[in-house]
Amino acid sequence: MARILITSAIPYINGIKHLGNLVGSQLPADLFARYLRLRGHEVMFICATDEHGTPAEIAAQRDGVGVREYCDRMYEIQHHLGTGFRLSFDHFGRSSSDRNRQLTQHFAGRLADNGHISEVREQQLFSVADNRFLPDRYVRGTCPNCGYEQARGDQCENCTKQLNPTELINPRSEISGSTELEMRWTTHLFLRQSKFRNRLEEWIDSCDGWPILTSSIARKWLRDGDGLQDRGITRDLDWGIPVRRGNKDWPGMEGKVFYVWFDAPIEYISATAEWADANELDEAAWQRWWRTDLGADDVRYVQFMGKDNVPFHTLSFPVTIMGSGEPWKLVDHIKSFNFLNYDGGQFSTSLRRGVFMDQALDILPPDYWRWWLLSHAPEHSDSEFTWNNFVASVNKDLADVLGNFVRRVTKFCSARFGNEVPQGGDWSSEQSQFAAELAENVRRYATHMEDIEIRKAAQQLRLIWASGNEYLQTAAPWTSVKEDPARAATDISICMNLIRLIAVISEPFIPDFSSAIIKSLRLRSPAWPDDPEAALSAMTPGHEFDVPDLLFRKISDEECNEWQMRFSGEAGSNPPPNNDV
Ligand code: 2FM
Ligand code: ZN
Repeated sequence: MARILITSAIPYINGIKHLGNLVGSQLPADLFARYLRLRGHEVMFICATDEHGTPAEIAAQRDGVGVREYCDRMYEIQHHLGTGFRLSFDHFGRSSSDRNRQLTQHFAGRLADNGHISEVREQQLFSVADNRFLPDRYVRGTCPNCGYEQARGDQCENCTKQLNPTELINPRSEISGSTELEMRWTTHLFLRQSKFRNRLEEWIDSCDGWPILTSSIARKWLRDGDGLQDRGITRDLDWGIPVRRGNKDWPGMEGKVFYVWFDAPIEYISATAEWADANELDEAAWQRWWRTDLGADDVRYVQFMGKDNVPFHTLSFPVTIMGSGEPWKLVDHIKSFNFLNYDGGQFSTSLRRGVFMDQALDILPPDYWRWWLLSHAPEHSDSEFTWNNFVASVNKDLADVLGNFVRRVTKFCSARFGNEVPQGGDWSSEQSQFAAELAENVRRYATHMEDIEIRKAAQQLRLIWASGNEYLQTAAPWTSVKEDPARAATDISICMNLIRLIAVISEPFIPDFSSAIIKSLRLRSPAWPDDPEAALSAMTPGHEFDVPDLLFRKISDEECNEWQMRFSGEAGSNPPPNNDV
């Protein structure tokens, strides 16, 4: 038994996440956590909401509520949706927690004590009407390159030219529209990342077995001059973690907060402490996951995230950890993902294009989404959600292959032998051969799961489901029951036990299916089939069961067309319930 720490990138608080966000971190992390628990390992699975930064402030302002109140509300919604998708976090924390405030200030203090922070005086745009400094993206004006009047201070969305806010013609505040802007001096803290180039390079080189996507992004950023530039870790904002040096004031930093990307990854640690608090456990309970001097040296730490998050997790966060000079656990494996596109374009939160987590659960149960998303995870390239593909896969894999197998076997058994596993005879050579093949297939599936090769694992699982149908078709117990009832009984007993095995091993992908079957089979919590051949006689003759209700319904063409229209993002087709930005 091993100890495995799993973190999913923490979603921004502002707005409900779409399916592309879900499949890029939280859902695959959940798959892995569930699998490892099933194999008897000790797992700590952590996620949280990423609550700081200007987008949260602006969203709150737009909703006419305080930012704390806004975050409280959105936290509940995101937490509830996570439960709806059966995300099995040990703790879903909040980056605005007291724990994260203390720990972020602690790290900043340690980094400063160790000489890894510098203070830099610079000029920044200040909005007199808003009485605040404006981040680049909150300044709009006319693009000096193409004349587009809505250009943003960091980049013109029309001609894509990268801009500096001072280059905009007629700049105005995105918050109030005011044009009364001026340059003012301000001082910020910078993390001296460039000093860590050699240590980072050595560390990244030592991490063999990272997916190519992860290591190629990490190496590219390390090599490019830009990637390791010293990074500003403070902002002139109200909402965020106040800049302090440990628990002491930081002269000159009054009224400033840490940059959201400085405190967000620290929340992985803080959320584990929040978990201990919520369960009334002591400090040692969470520290054994994070402090290598307090037990975490035998922990394997795996992170899940979208590819856009990789630089922060391979450069900035490791610098925070290394620079603290304290024995915190560094990540061992980073599983990163490409993007999921939506029906010929991109998911768009602002245009409400695509399916969002709340809407998905309004129309279908979580297993349908989990299965499609995971079996099409954008692991090795971007992938695309189309309604036709979704409906075809779900109807085929879940309804025709899996659901049908379970229904045919349980109904036939019930009709011919009653609601109990029948008494069969010794296995024939075909039956033994089937069991041996099954054992090999389960072994392959386990290997893909351990390697976090999600698509391959899904394919292998589908193959196991299909092997049940094929076996049933070849054995044809509805025919043999007439001449050789003992043989038919043996086949049905094998199939009933195969249903049990499938329920167990499919749990990481489709947990609701799994629990429905386990309940119908009147089992408690069956263990992973270490010996799949033996598992085909785990339920002995006389074991009673109930025929399960319909497990997966088929989606009709009408529904498919209707949903395609509804979620296209065309004017008014997909009204925002709780979403912003
Ligand atoms: O991209 C995002 O959604 C960020 N909120 C991820 C942060 S991950 C981490 F650093 F905590
Ligand atoms: Zn332009």
